[in-house]
Amino acid sequence: MTDRIIPIADARYSARTPPVPELAHASNGLLSDARGRPLRDLRISVTDRCNFRCTYCMPKSVFDKSYQFLPHASLLSFEEISRLARLFVAHGVEKIRLTGGEPLLRKNIERLIEMLAPMRTPTGAPVELTLTTNASVLPRKARQLRDAGLQRVTVSLDALNDKVFRAMNDVDFPVADVLAGIEAADRVGLRPLKINMVVKKGVNDDQIVPMARHFKGSGHIVRFIEFMDVGASNGWRLDDVVPSAEVVRRIAEEFALEPVAANYEGEVAERWRYADGSGEIGVISSVSQPFCPSCTRARLSTEGRLYTCLFATEGHDFRAPLRENWSDDQISAAIGALWGQRQDRYSEIRSSETAGLRKIEMSYIGG
Ligand code: GTP
Ligand code: 5AD
Ligand code: SF4
Ligand code: SF4
Repeated sequence: MTDRIIPIADARYSARTPPVPELAHASNGLLSDARGRPLRDLRISVTDRCNFRCTYCMPKSVFDKSYQFLPHASLLSFEEISRLARLFVAHGVEKIRLTGGEPLLRKNIERLIEMLAPMRTPTGAPVELTLTTNASVLPRKARQLRDAGLQRVTVSLDALNDKVFRAMNDVDFPVADVLAGIEAADRVGLRPLKINMVVKKGVNDDQIVPMARHFKGSGHIVRFIEFMDVGASNGWRLDDVVPSAEVVRRIAEEFALEPVAANYEGEVAERWRYADGSGEIGVISSVSQPFCPSCTRARLSTEGRLYTCLFATEGHDFRAPLRENWSDDQISAAIGALWGQRQDRYSEIRSSETAGLRKIEMSYIGG
């Protein structure tokens, strides 16, 4: 085999790209990592581009006009993504989430959805297929996405106040257009809709209660996310984090809340329901209450690198093996070997020492 180490175009993406292990024997079947965690969830980033410049994700100071996004030829094709997805499903993946950047900016994304939607787990159950979007193109795309086989969507929305929202997306995008996207998705049945709000102290924390109030009774689930130190460019400081306990306290001052059990083992969000039966909210506490012990997620970057943690500094390249015609068994064995040696638990060991790591950006690896 030739050397498969791909030159790094931009050190902001990844410090190192080791080749995937080449094994003589396939390790097919269900997997467990070095900490006993199964592989259940695959997040596939389909583009590193986005039409927003959220200050916590793609700050304009870094993602400016001169920023070099990936050229089209380096992206995995839909055929390559589908082939990898099929092999991951054989290894136990039950849920696939398309992410970005903004996944709906990838041309003909509905064709990829059509290819992924029929996938079944080894027990014959449909693979859950969903997508995280900023909703900017949902008003004209929702129906097409549903028809292609998408089951539901998660929409990012950080404020109801138009001024606050425009400042956070930093491209002057109006809140009314995101609300129109949410309505369009709801109308065609992409339900239950989840709405992700990243909370930054002093920036949008005054929007916590208005967001809860607005979506209470709508059937949509708002999840309040602690601002995280992903990537190396968002200027994260612990002082900017509003702990989830505080979010719950503020909402509970207005509406009585009761805790709810998780939907499934390893669910990222902690659930709370309104005591009056008008729905639920979630809080995602990666900083104040890390959930690494039950983390079952793998992430595939736009150009085919596999990351076993959101905070990884390196990913393993699967694009070269795909393009060098490795067999399914060989690729499957490589996935098995990588998962088998996985030790990641970044959120648990976050400290001043991890702060200087050259982590990859969220817009590259997907949320
Ligand atoms: P569903 O339950 O299927 O709706 O998905 P989910 O709970 O995995 O939620 P989603 O994919 O919308 O993730 C919400 C947010 O949680 C992400 O945007 C991240 O901010 C955070 N998050 C998700 N997965 C991880 C993870 O593995 N580690 C950390 N630290 N944060 C995560
Ligand atoms: N902290 C927490 N969540 C983030 N996201 C992006 N950057 C961050 C960050 N620094 C998540 C948001 C958004 C999704 C695309 O990525 O939840 O909805
Ligand atoms: Fe784009 Fe989502 Fe990142 Fe905002 S959070 S810049 S919408 S990818
Ligand atoms: Fe999983 Fe890494 Fe997030 Fe921990 S920090 S929950 S290991 S992705």
